[in-house]
Amino acid sequence: MTILLNNDGHWHARWRAAIETHMPGRAVVEFPDITNRASIDYALIWKHPPGDLEKYPNLKAVFSLGSGVDYLDAFPTLPEAPIFRLIDTNMAEDMALYTLYWTIHFQRLFGTYQTQQKQAKWARYPTPLAPDFKVSILGLGAIGSHIAKALARNGFDVSGWARSPKDITGVKCVYGKDALETILPKADVLICCLPFTKATYMSLDLAVLSKMKKGGAFINISRGAVVNEADLLTLLDSGHIGGAALDVFHAEPLPENSPFWSHPDVHVTPHMSGATNPDTAVQIISKEITDFENGIMPPYPYMREATCSREVKA
Ligand code: GLV
Repeated sequence: MTILLNNDGHWHARWRAAIETHMPGRAVVEFPDITNRASIDYALIWKHPPGDLEKYPNLKAVFSLGSGVDYLDAFPTLPEAPIFRLIDTNMAEDMALYTLYWTIHFQRLFGTYQTQQKQAKWARYPTPLAPDFKVSILGLGAIGSHIAKALARNGFDVSGWARSPKDITGVKCVYGKDALETILPKADVLICCLPFTKATYMSLDLAVLSKMKKGGAFINISRGAVVNEADLLTLLDSGHIGGAALDVFHAEPLPENSPFWSHPDVHVTPHMSGATNPDTAVQIISKEITDFENGIMPPYPYMREATCSREVKA
């Protein structure tokens, strides 16, 4: 029983330690130091080189070490073995706290107070109570629905949009293309949790984002490729979008010359809103492997039909 490990070459010692703790008895081989391909039965990977997974004759299943699987969409071929996404509620909760932090930042005008402090200016402004502050969430998958519930629990007026009907306690859920038009103009804060697929690529463009309420804020925690960044900048420059907290970008790391770095209304974070935690992730994967060996399918299979036919930059 040998696990192939490749977290895009990062933090392998932490992953190895977690595997040794939570999957005792399994050997770990770190990509690319493989001597016996036939010994590998499970692969734990993130952004693995395309074409490599097909070279393990006894591979039973692949576990992706993150929730977004758009990097797999760019693989020209995939192995026969099933591939599963990682949905870790600890990661979803981290992302919920990230969006709560920025939602409160925009609701309570903390950006204004930061600027005022630099000027030794003492002035305060009325702000809406949480139930009067409207948050709209685009995408109600495992992460988006977790975020929606967390914001609703904290008293915000939360709406959510998805492609298909959803039912989430405390959240006004709408679906379909026309419904998007109804929640954009209401949103004091719009949070993007959309997966990056062929359908969502650059879908948040001038036409869509200009339907937002004037002065509303935008938070993106999914993928930069879902947004037309030039259009977002146009709307930030004109003040139509009053502020943005951006954790993801078309090109990562964000290039030094990106206008987002120095934009006065933009907060840039380096794709850290919900980092995978090796300890909790391996505990989940360990249980899923045990279930899989007993004929029980892990809950989040990767669906090839959601594929993108565009070049992957992230
Ligand atoms: C990170 O971006 C992930 O998709 O898990």
